[in-house]
Amino acid sequence: MNTLVTYWSQTGNTRKIAEAIYETLSCEKEIKPFDEVVSLEGFDLTFIGFPVMKFGPPGQAKKFIDTLAKGRTIALFVTHATLSESKDPSQQDMLEKELNRCRAACAQSDLVGMFHCQGELSEKIANELHASGILMLMEFAAWRPNTIGHPDHQEIEQAQDFALKMTTLRRATQPGNNPPY
Ligand SMILES: Cc1cc2nc3c(=O)[nH]c(=O)nc-3n(C[C@H](O)[C@H](O)[C@H](O)COP(=O)(O)O)c2cc1C
Repeated sequence: MNTLVTYWSQTGNTRKIAEAIYETLSCEKEIKPFDEVVSLEGFDLTFIGFPVMKFGPPGQAKKFIDTLAKGRTIALFVTHATLSESKDPSQQDMLEKELNRCRAACAQSDLVGMFHCQGELSEKIANELHASGILMLMEFAAWRPNTIGHPDHQEIEQAQDFALKMTTLRRATQPGNNPPY
């Protein structure tokens, strides 16, 4: 099985997850940022990673998926500043909507799974949001202390578990492989 791990990462969080996924895979594999990928031809499974931006997938991800991932078997990994699970219903609802927008961007692909976790909101970005003077963005900037250190060890391990599950699932559905029942 031949697997590609590809990503777009502005401040390094999604890249960290991409590298952890790549490291744990034991099949034929490649890792490349979006801008070095010209085709997904020849890959049985492609892991596609990006951060949530402005409540959904960033333009770079939408463009990559639209131009290269149509009809391809893909798994997503996404980082975001909000908690992965919040007791605050409005926060949880916002995250679910963001993740649904990421899934919706893959409507023309064979999306087999999705992993997501928190990623640190960088100091530079938080300062820019704070300086914008826009209340909503300033509130977002104030969230930075809750994001520091993410993705952490546990999230990295969870991403690796996810990647192994996805490759096992993909192997089982490849032509010529009889399912184990
Ligand atoms: C311009 C911008 C917009 C963002 N919008 C959101 C958002 O809507 N929701 C969210 O949870 N995180 C948001 N974030 C936080 C990032 O998703 C998070 O920090 C992510 O881990 C960054 O990944 P990266 O280091 O791979 O670029 C935003 C970050 C930036 C820079």
